[in-house]
Formats: sequence, C-alpha cells, structure tokens
Amino acid sequence: MSSWGLLLTGKVVDFGHDSRAGMLAALKNLIAKTGESVVREALKKAMKLIGGQFVLGETVAEALSHSRSYMKKGYRFSYDILGEGARSDEQAKGYVESYRKGIALIGKTIPAGTPLFEGPGISVKLSALHARYQLVKRDRVINELLPRLKDILLSAKKAGIAVAIDAEEASRLDIEMILFEQLLSDPAFAGWNGIGFVVQAYQKRAFYLIDWLAAQASAHNRIIPVRLVKGAYWDSEIKWAQMNGLPSYPVFTRKEHTDVSYLACANKILSYKSVFFPQFATHNIRTVSSIIELSTRYGWATGSFEFQRLHGMGEAMHDKIVKDTPSRIYAPVGAHKDLLAYLIRRLLENGANSSFIHLLMDHSKSSEEILADPVATTKNFAQLYNPTIALPLAIYGAHRRNSAGIDFGNAAQLQALLKTIPHPDQPLSTISDATMTTLNDAINSAHKAFPFWAATPVEKRAAILERAADLLEEYEPELIGLCTHEAGKTLPDGIAEVREAADFCRYYAAEARRILAPHVLTGPAGESNVLMLHPRGVFACISPWNFPLAIFMGQVTAALITGNGVIAKPAEQTPLIAARAVEILHEAGVPREVLHLVPGPGETIGAALVADKRICGVVFTGGTDTAQRIQQALATRGGSIVPLIAETGGQNCMVVDSSALPEQAVDDIILSAFGSAGQRCSALRILFVQDDIADELLKLLAGAMQELKVGNPADPATDIGPVIDADAQRMLLDHIERMKKSAKLVAVTPITGTPEGFFVAPHAFEIANIETLSREIFGPVLHVIRFATGTLPQVIDAINSTGYGLTFGIHSRIDEHVQLLVSRVHAGNIYVNRSMIGATVGVQPFGGEGLSGTGPKAGGPHYLLRFVNERTTTVNTAAIGGNVSLLNG
Ligand code: FDA
Repeated sequence: MSSWGLLLTGKVVDFGHDSRAGMLAALKNLIAKTGESVVREALKKAMKLIGGQFVLGETVAEALSHSRSYMKKGYRFSYDILGEGARSDEQAKGYVESYRKGIALIGKTIPAGTPLFEGPGISVKLSALHARYQLVKRDRVINELLPRLKDILLSAKKAGIAVAIDAEEASRLDIEMILFEQLLSDPAFAGWNGIGFVVQAYQKRAFYLIDWLAAQASAHNRIIPVRLVKGAYWDSEIKWAQMNGLPSYPVFTRKEHTDVSYLACANKILSYKSVFFPQFATHNIRTVSSIIELSTRYGWATGSFEFQRLHGMGEAMHDKIVKDTPSRIYAPVGAHKDLLAYLIRRLLENGANSSFIHLLMDHSKSSEEILADPVATTKNFAQLYNPTIALPLAIYGAHRRNSAGIDFGNAAQLQALLKTIPHPDQPLSTISDATMTTLNDAINSAHKAFPFWAATPVEKRAAILERAADLLEEYEPELIGLCTHEAGKTLPDGIAEVREAADFCRYYAAEARRILAPHVLTGPAGESNVLMLHPRGVFACISPWNFPLAIFMGQVTAALITGNGVIAKPAEQTPLIAARAVEILHEAGVPREVLHLVPGPGETIGAALVADKRICGVVFTGGTDTAQRIQQALATRGGSIVPLIAETGGQNCMVVDSSALPEQAVDDIILSAFGSAGQRCSALRILFVQDDIADELLKLLAGAMQELKVGNPADPATDIGPVIDADAQRMLLDHIERMKKSAKLVAVTPITGTPEGFFVAPHAFEIANIETLSREIFGPVLHVIRFATGTLPQVIDAINSTGYGLTFGIHSRIDEHVQLLVSRVHAGNIYVNRSMIGATVGVQPFGGEGLSGTGPKAGGPHYLLRFVNERTTTVNTAAIGGNVSLLNG
C-alpha cells in the first residue's frame, strides 16, 4: 500500500499534473462513496499490475512457470529472490530460507547435463542476508553472513546453479571483496565456477576491480562469471558523498563517462582470456553493438559470453540479440509488499532523462543523438567533472567549503584513520578549574582587548576562523581521540564533532562578511543613512558536554567573528576538549587576550561569570532550569540589559503513520533515539505509531535493536558508547527500573561482556500517554505511544502540551498528514522521512522554542545578529553643501 501511495503522491513518477490531480480527486470521491477498504483493495490490484511489469512472479513456482515462454525464445534466467536491506536477524534468516527453497525448486527444472553457464542462475544481495553488512562490522560479516552465503552457494552448487553476488552501494564494495576472496579460497568450492561478481561501471574503481578479479581467478584457478552493469544507485551515491563530505564521488558524474567506463571495462574483460565468463547487462543498443564489435576483435566465440537484461526492460532489443548471442533475463521474484526498493530503482531508471530507455521513448531526439559515440562526446568536454554537480566539498558554493568526512566503508580510509587516532594508555591529564581571581583577570583582560578586536577588520577575523577550520581538520584524528576518551564519543560521532565545528567556523566567517558590511538605507534627498552592526563587548559562552567541540566552537566563534571578546566556560565533564579548541583558535590567530577559557563548576564559576556586569551577553546550551536561573541572574544583577541566547532540551516526538516505510522508519528511529547514546538535545524521546502498523513496526524495531553493539567507543564496530558519567547512568537506570514496573517493555539491546564505563543499554517502552513522562530523559530510552486512525489532531495537542519545541520527526507518505503536522506542531526543527538528529550548519539551522530555547538558531542566518548592537548614522548632506547626486541627476 505504502509503495503505491508513493507512486500516487507523485514522489517517484509524475503522471502529469492533470492526470494526477484527476486521479487523486477520483480516489477521494471513491473513498467517500465506497470506504477506505474498497479503495485499499483497488490499490493493491493496481500495485500488482505495476509489480507484474518488473517482477516475474510472487513465488519461485510462479516465476518458473512465467519463464517458460521466454525460454522458448532462447533466454536464460537469473532469479533474484527479492530481498535486500534486512534490518533484523529474523528478516535476514527469512531471506536465506527463501533462497534455499528457491534453489531447490529451480534445481528441479534443470535438465541433466546442462552446462553451468547455460542453465539458470540466481542473484543474491548480501544486504538481505545480514542486517549489518558493513565493513565496520567485518567480524560479524565473516562469522555470521559468510556461513549463510556459503550455505546458499553449497545448495546452488549441488543444484548446478551459478550465483551472482549483486553489487550494491559503493561503500559495500570493500567488504564484498573480502567475502569474495574468502569464498574463492574455500576448499568447498574448489574447481567450481559458479561464484559470480557484479561490477558497476559507474564506479571509478570498476576498471581496476577487473584486474583484481582476474588476479583472483588466476590465483584460485577459476573462471569467474563477471556481470558488467552500469549501476543502479547513482543518485544515492551522489547524495551520500555530499552529506559525508567525501573528497570526490565514488561514481562518475557524467552519464557519458559511465558509458565510456563500461566500454573500457568490457574491453578489459574481453582482453583477459580464460579467467572470465563475461555477462554484459545493458539495455543500451549502442553499448550492445560496441560489445559485439569488441568481442569479435578479441576473437570471442558465440556462446563464450552473454548479454543480460532486466525483466520488463529492453525486451525488443534482446529478443533480437538472443537469436545470435545468449541473453539472460534477471528475474526478480517476490511478494509485492517486498518489492518497493527494487521497483523504485526501476522507475527511476526508466524515468531518468539520461537513461537510454527514456531517450528511446523521447520522440524529440534524433537517432544520431540517441546513438552518439560516448568516447567522441567526452573528448569535447571542456572539463571532466559535470559542471552541474559540485564536488562534495564545494556544494555550498564559493563562500564556504563543506567540511571533510570519511567513508567508513572504504578500507583504506578507515585504516588510515584508525592508525592516526591516538590511544593513550594512561588516564587523560587534568586541567585545573579557574579560581575567582583567574576569572576576574580573564574578564579584565578580555575587556581591555575588546576595542582592538572590535576594530579588527571583519575580513581578518573571518580569515582567522577559516584558518581555525583548516586546523580542526588537520588535527582531526587527535580531536576524535579526545572526544572518545573524554566524552565517550564513537568514531562517527567524533568525526561529526570535528566537521560541525569546522562548519561553524566557515559558515560564521561567510555570514559575518555578509552582514557586517554597512547597510545604506533609502531616505529623503540631502541625507545619508547608514546602518552598521557593532560588537557588544565581552560574551560569556557556557557550553555542554554532549557536543564538547561542536557547540563549544559554535558559540565561541559566533561571538568572536562579530568582534566580541569571549570568556568560555565549558562543561565540567569535558574541559580538555575545550582547552584544545581554544589552543586551536589561538593558533589560528585569535589574540589570547580576546579569548579566555575558565573551566569550573556552573554553580560557582558559571554563576560568577554571568553575574559580572562587564559581561555583555550570554550564550548558553544546557538544561532549561539552568537557562532560567541564568535569565533571573541577568535580570537581577543590574547594569545594562543584555541578551541571553539559550538552547535547551526537548521532549522530542516522532509520528509514524500507516503509510510509512517500516524499514526506513526503523532506521531513523534507531538513529534518532539511540545514536550518541540518546545524549543529544535533538534525540527522539517519544514515538507515536499508528495502530494499524504498530505491531509490525515494533517487531522490526525490536529486531533491529538486537543488532546494535554497545561498547568501547574507540572500536569502529561500536554503535553506542557510554553515557557521560555515573550520575547520568544512575538517573537513566532508575528511570528504566520505574518504566519496567509501569510500562510495557518493547525491546532492550543486549550488552555483551562487561565493558568498562558508564553504559546504559538502549530500551524501548510502550507507555499509555505523554503525561507519563514529566521531563526529558537524556539517554537511550525510547517511549512509544500508539494512536488510532483519525486522531492526529489529538496527537498534535499532546505533543504541544509538553511546552517544549525543539525537534520533531514525521514518517509518512501522505501529504495531508505531513502538512497538518508541519503546520501545527511547535518545533524548531522538523524532519520528514529522515532521522531527526544531525542538523547541518547552514542547512538545518538548529534551535527550538518555548521551553527549548530562545533562538535564534545556531548555524542559521539570524544567529550573529544577536551578538551585535545596531547603530545608524544619519548625515544631513544638504547642510554641508547640497546633494551632489540630486544636482547631477
Ligand atoms: P543506460 O545506457 O541508460 O545507462 C544508465 C546508467 O547511466 C546508469 O548506471 C546510471 O546510473 C548512469 N548515469 C545516469 N546519469 C549519470 C551521470 N550524470 N553520471 C554518471 N552516470 C550516470 N545494478 C547494480 O547497481 N547492481 C547490480 O547488481 C545490478 N544487476 C543487474 C543485473 C542485470 C542483468 C541488469 C540488466 C542490470 C543490473 N543492474 C544492477 C541495473 C543496472 O545498473 C541498470 O539497469 C543499468 O545501469 C542500466 O544501464 P543501461 O546500459 O541499460 O542504460
């Protein structure tokens, strides 16, 4: 249903405005007249029709029966028992079982003596066989996924069926290669040529991958069936590389380069003799004819290689090919409810302007254009990169660089990172708390230095921040190590800290250049009016332990770039990270007198800092009660009225309705509720799930929670590290005990072994209503509430009744629901169909309302304005000799 809903809402295919509007109106009408259940049935039928286009059968038996007519034409088959991206072990085991049963059925249809490469094959996606098919989970992949894959391969070998391992995302290639090598060296498969590899030509590594495959074939004395495809995840690869700040894309950015790469790979495959059984999978006539020419040039006999197509695509062309050269149909098999991911890839592929199939349908294109030689076309490009797709580090344009990240799926990058992160065997050094005297000296010094810093040109201050961003990236391994050791951050969280800190530096530098220039205002003739922004003085920046580098740097750099002096008081738990951040800012060029660190307790040092009348503004991130105390202190201390920028907690909710995609929702729930051990202000605390899907969703969530690893944050395989200290642990464990008595436990993540540290296992509890929770529970505890169909308005009232307004998540494919929730829920950051954590500087400016904070949003275009005074200067130019421009006009 949700998949069909997705199609209807036009998210994937555009039916054209009129037809869609008409169809939706007709549907609404139908619902009104017949009721939802009738429409559901009608939609299921319609979905069956679309599924039938690309899926050969819902069961293997049905697919085998449908395959007969194609086999009569000469086609071979490779059956893909639809399944990918398992989220739980139960799902993964279910897919393994489907493969086993499928192989047995397919095996029965193979006539005795059929050569391996002429008979039917199967295609397997390894992400279906294990919920954590990732390089960082290497041990589990080897110990758990590999035996499952081996079982499938052994059954296939017995049945005389070759297996192709489908290629998935680029970040899975390294772990796939590790597995493949293990399989080839396994004596159980010695001499068997049935283990195939799929190469995606759109990946820049494809050309070299073929040499590696040839070396594997020679080393293990094997023929490897190599299926050459162009690749089906291109848009996801582009998005992922941009979000992760990769140095470049793993895939080509021009379609023509993918085509050239395909030919270069084909050329290389064909140039190797006796190591490959080449399988060219394409629906592109130009590509097919080039392959035929190349194969003749290299003297490949008919039948020594084959073409392949997807079921439902390229039929007319392959019907011709199959008369002379073998052709195989990739035939998905599965229940329509499991086909969404596959179906969407096919719809995208058929709908993409660049796709050959799409071009063929476009009557405005001449055959010369459709069949243009990609090699010749690429020679005419003025630059290699597609100018319409900025490199990942350049997506924000010329005024600021994106922060650099790493790909945890890339073995070389991961190893390089692990090697450079320091692991002190001794406890970290300590740092002394400031005294009242050092605090007073610091404020004095910053006060004195303020006029000089205020007069420093904004360009110079911006250059210093940009230098600080570069230094943060240069010292990244050391900073990640510090985040892990002092704050218990996992490696991805450590990288995110450094990236966000660098983003703040570059974003505020760019923003300051934009807003600090004089604004000339329009007024009457004979007068000049100019608005200028001026720094306020010395700011107190009081930051929390949960983002010890990022929030610390965000506050401090905003105050500095606007020309203010800064006294920074870090959280008691994380002074070392703050001290290093200050050193980096000093190294970048911030004068020591302008920026001072005053570590110490909030009750003493923090309170004295805020109470000092020389402090011209306070930036605070932390608990709502502390923010309120600061507000009172500022109100009663006398002196000038100064701004307080407070970013506090949230009782953050997510609504998942019955149209949500369960797998995607579960991924985002886990990340939002348990990522960073739930110690983010933005973390998900209360999940509202529509009754209709609650059982299914909670089962999947419970399964996925079993797949998380809680443990040493320095281990790349760890998903969830410790909570910050013993107090936090005690508070959370007490809450969990209370919940166990009053709520229904949905699931708990097991903690294996007895890791040293303040660990709290992620828990999910079902509770009756939102009133059960009187405050924010700052840790990995998720509370779930079911809601009935038609009660969204009540859900919204309940969410708003908390008085908080920080983050809010929605998983829905129904536009009306999304619009209703977005317009009525009070929350500073709303996320639809994604996780609700990880706001990016300048992209999702962060901050809430009500009990969640004062605004303006950190990392947003209005933030710096709160750090400045506005002054206008009006000059009567008529009084000093008239208005020249008026006279000239
Ligand atoms: P066509 O000539 O239209 O090429 C489309 C290709 O161009 C796509 O790869 C697309 O991403 C790429 N492209 C579009 N715009 C681009 C740009 N700006 N820059 C760079 N490239 C761009 N896929 C996969 O990832 N893993 C797999 O295991 C398989 N398995 C498989 C088996 C079989 C038998 C077939 C036929 C296909 C697959 N595929 C696959 C899917 C395959 O990747 C997809 O069908 C092809 O990319 C379509 O290529 P054509 O040559 O038919 O089309």
